[in-house]
Amino acid sequence: MKIAIGNDHSAVEYKKEITAFLEEKGHEVINFGTDTNVSCNYAEYGQKVGEAVASGQADCGVLICGTGIGISLAANKVKGIRAAVCSEPVSARLTKEHNNANIIAFGARIVGIEMAKAIVTAWLDSEFQGGRHQDRINYIHSIEK
Ligand code: RB5
Repeated sequence: MKIAIGNDHSAVEYKKEITAFLEEKGHEVINFGTDTNVSCNYAEYGQKVGEAVASGQADCGVLICGTGIGISLAANKVKGIRAAVCSEPVSARLTKEHNNANIIAFGARIVGIEMAKAIVTAWLDSEFQGGRHQDRINYIHSIEK
């Protein structure tokens, strides 16, 4: 899969580790994040990854900031995006199965790198269940109109 990745200054090393992890799994990773530790605005990177996923440039996205919250809030302002912040793999699995989250986010200051890999793996390896969950997602996107 083509996976867009984005991060702010708090997650540069994290982004590199997750990128290598995803590439080892055979994915193509497109980097939209900052590569310096200079303080920046996470919202810019959330927007970039959101737009890459919404436009089809990427199949899905991974976002990392200090908490995962700010960067996911920005991504969720892009039409068609369902970005979910997760701190453990059960929520990561369920947000694919029930919410069909097209972006997963987590906090470099919240979860360790091995937990982050487990979160990404649980999300990538799960499948959307459709049915009643699709109706609920349709409702969410009707709010965008
Ligand atoms: C940056 O200091 C921090 O605010 C940011 O990484 C993120 O945690 C915001 O939600």
